[in-house]
Amino acid sequence: MKNNVEKNIQYTFPNINPKNLESVVPGRVYYFEKTKSTNTEAKLKDNVPDKSLFIAEEQESGRGRLGREWKSPAKTGIWMSIYLKPQIPQDSISQLTLLAGLAVSRVIPDSLIKWPNDVILSGKKVCGILTEMIVKNSIPDRVICGIGINVNTDSFPEDLAEKATSIYLHTKKFADRNNIIKAVLSEFFSIYDAFIKNGFDTIRKEYTEKCITIGREVSIICGSEKKTAKAIDITEKGELLIETENGTEIVNSGEVSVRGVLGYC
Ligand code: BTN
Repeated sequence: MKNNVEKNIQYTFPNINPKNLESVVPGRVYYFEKTKSTNTEAKLKDNVPDKSLFIAEEQESGRGRLGREWKSPAKTGIWMSIYLKPQIPQDSISQLTLLAGLAVSRVIPDSLIKWPNDVILSGKKVCGILTEMIVKNSIPDRVICGIGINVNTDSFPEDLAEKATSIYLHTKKFADRNNIIKAVLSEFFSIYDAFIKNGFDTIRKEYTEKCITIGREVSIICGSEKKTAKAIDITEKGELLIETENGTEIVNSGEVSVRGVLGYC
């Protein structure tokens, strides 16, 4: 696509074309011009086929991890949720979030992953993932894997600018979201099928190589508790192996926030 900014041409972002996504989505595609949150839409809907997609041009109340807000203005980003009914033990569900991070990272050139699931470009976050599980009669019924990618955002508010970026800000080129959505979904479903068959081991090596967190001094924040450690590896279950002054420990992605001691990553 041409660099329209340099040429000072007003660029109109193409809409998402839901019909065009049907070839890469095994289930159904639910498309919204505007919704509160695609994760919330997917969570509230019953009788949805496995591997369906909820996608919106704009989210009015986009949600991030740990109860944070996720800014989702119209047409500049990809705000989508994948609806899954995986037959796997409950303690493996958090691994799905790592799969989604890897799928996005395969599609965005130069990107890396900050464990567990932030996709990073030049040290700033370009994509976040929010995985939520619905439990029915004490059994996991469905998992909603929400993916937010900043694509054509040309600036962020001051409080975000230090740690957030977009594909546009990195490449100086606007991108057609339709191509990125299709590529991410096709990577995701191929990784997911392999994961369901053979477990996390199928992507552990690739994930670990892309994981910017490994080898770094990090702060692990869980509620009001904070500890500093060195991240040393990703376990066979997708957890973070850290070295603290008391020896090695395993951190599960659940409710923790990981920050680099020297900055966001
Ligand atoms: C994070 O990094 O905190 C996770 C951000 C997840 C944002 C996506 S956008 C699509 C889906 N719907 C939401 O409300 N949140 C997720």
